[in-house]
Amino acid sequence: MSTDGRTWGGRFQGQMHELTQAYTAGLDRDLWEFDIAGSIAHARMLGHQGIIPPADADAIVRGLENVREQFRRGEVQWRPELEDIHTHIEALLREQIGEPAGRLHTARSRNDQVALVNRMAVRALCDDATAALRDLIGVICDLAERHAADPMPGYTHLQRAQPITLGHHLLAYGEMLLRDRERFADCRRRTNVLPLGSGALAGAPYPLDREMVARELGFETISRNSIDATADRDFVAEFCFACAMTQVHLSRLSEEIILWASAEYGFLRLPDAFATGSSIMPQKKNADVAELARGRAGRLIGELTGILTTLKGLPLAYNRDLQEDKGYYLAAGRILIPTLQIFAAMLPALEFDLPRMRQAAGQGYALATDIADYLVKKGMPFREAHTIVGRLVREAESRHCELAELPFELYRAASTLFEPDVLAITVESSIAARDVPGGTAPPRVRDAARQLRALLA
Ligand code: ARG
Repeated sequence: MSTDGRTWGGRFQGQMHELTQAYTAGLDRDLWEFDIAGSIAHARMLGHQGIIPPADADAIVRGLENVREQFRRGEVQWRPELEDIHTHIEALLREQIGEPAGRLHTARSRNDQVALVNRMAVRALCDDATAALRDLIGVICDLAERHAADPMPGYTHLQRAQPITLGHHLLAYGEMLLRDRERFADCRRRTNVLPLGSGALAGAPYPLDREMVARELGFETISRNSIDATADRDFVAEFCFACAMTQVHLSRLSEEIILWASAEYGFLRLPDAFATGSSIMPQKKNADVAELARGRAGRLIGELTGILTTLKGLPLAYNRDLQEDKGYYLAAGRILIPTLQIFAAMLPALEFDLPRMRQAAGQGYALATDIADYLVKKGMPFREAHTIVGRLVREAESRHCELAELPFELYRAASTLFEPDVLAITVESSIAARDVPGGTAPPRVRDAARQLRALLA
């Protein structure tokens, strides 16, 4: 290394401008644990294969373990002249063990080294996201079971459509989040491929045992193409997409929490622990957690857009543009995982106004489809039934009353198939009737919650 820390000292004479140092510095300070683990595995393999003297390999491993302790104790000073975490660790190793440190970078380039660290970091973030999703989905299953028979209005176009249960509504989010969890597992699988051994781009002229390194670092397989292995950041984009999709789901849930907490809906009260007040309006209680989660979906969509834009048009193999990759996935993880955690804590604390939701479920002609279905079951084609009930709705609307408040004679005049039992159609009977797999009937909701929980295991 040159005096200013550059690893390419031989080729260069002048010092690097301090603006260049600052401009080119990496965003990878938090990744030391992965880089050290990768270097330890690499050094062991080099010693094992006789590529470097085994005694030097041992010294490197011990030295790196000491460097790891220095990081753990928070003793490491960041030196702007050392470009990234890889060069920092190598410089610290040299302070520990002197000359043998120079053998660590044998058969390795920072291009495959950084690809390795990225993959280890994204893999760990996938695991964090998967664990946080499991907790949140578990919470949603609990709530769904508790509210499996509690009616609320179901909406399309934000107009009251048909009665559903609160449990069924919540489980819709459970399904979305389960897909998200699968996406993280899938992303992890494609991330978990060892790139080390690819060198700068062409491979390495040493008898490497890449499988040995893969085993030590927990990689499923090794890469088959050294150019792709050093240039590929698909796994970063996939991770950012999985984060963005998950946050978009939470943003939709947030929007509903915000609406439901408004006086206009009045479906829930925000728990004090997850709400904020206003500095001017004493009566206010705001759903700021949900609003921030909704707002941060925009940030995550930005991270995804950023990495895709960085990759677009980038020639093979490594280009320095790729250094920006860490910013995207680290930011994505830092937004998503706390969002998942706070939702798992907040959802059970929401105080649903179940009587008000029940009441709203029956208003606004939400049972019109059930009345049409009543006629269908007596033999009428659905289209005709739809027209007849449509006329009854119009009549009720002009009288400012609900369908159940129309006199039975009006039903009879609309169709002789109507019997007095049509007035026995209720929110509860409507919900109970939707007794198909995936439907809102309470036993089906309980069943769906059970299935979802089983898929989490
Ligand atoms: N700091 C770089 C990154 O994070 C790694 C160095 C890449 N190699 C190079 N030739 N500049 O992507």
